[in-house]
Amino acid sequence: MALIEWNGNLSLGIGSIDKQHQKLVELINELNAAMLEGKGKDALSRIINGLTDYTKTHFATEEKYFQQFGYPEAAGHKAQHDHFTSKVLEFKGEFEQARLGLSVKVMQFLSGWLQDHIKGSDKKYAPFLIERGVK
Ligand SMILES: [Fe+2]
Ligand SMILES: [Fe+2]
Repeated sequence: MALIEWNGNLSLGIGSIDKQHQKLVELINELNAAMLEGKGKDALSRIINGLTDYTKTHFATEEKYFQQFGYPEAAGHKAQHDHFTSKVLEFKGEFEQARLGLSVKVMQFLSGWLQDHIKGSDKKYAPFLIERGVK
């Protein structure tokens, strides 16, 4: 079973963003499966790199819209993105230096954060962007 099941709860009703969120869910599920299957460090590294890159792309997309339309809660939202990015980079660094194995705890942090963030902070901006024609 996948770590995160995509369902309507996670949908913002903005197709382009939902697609990016789905991709993040897929990457986290893929990483979890690779960890459980005992895949080697190189394979895990590749997925972790894909996840960090795509997270960057996704946050940049949201923040670009915030700037474009003057979203009033942009600063607090961006602070959450920055905090998560630094946590992920910290994991990545520790993993690469072999100080940290990928663990159930790390996976729970990633999946928990993503779902809470989408259902909380991302859902909050959805009506604002939909009103401004973002699809
Ligand atoms: Fe998001
Ligand atoms: Fe966000």
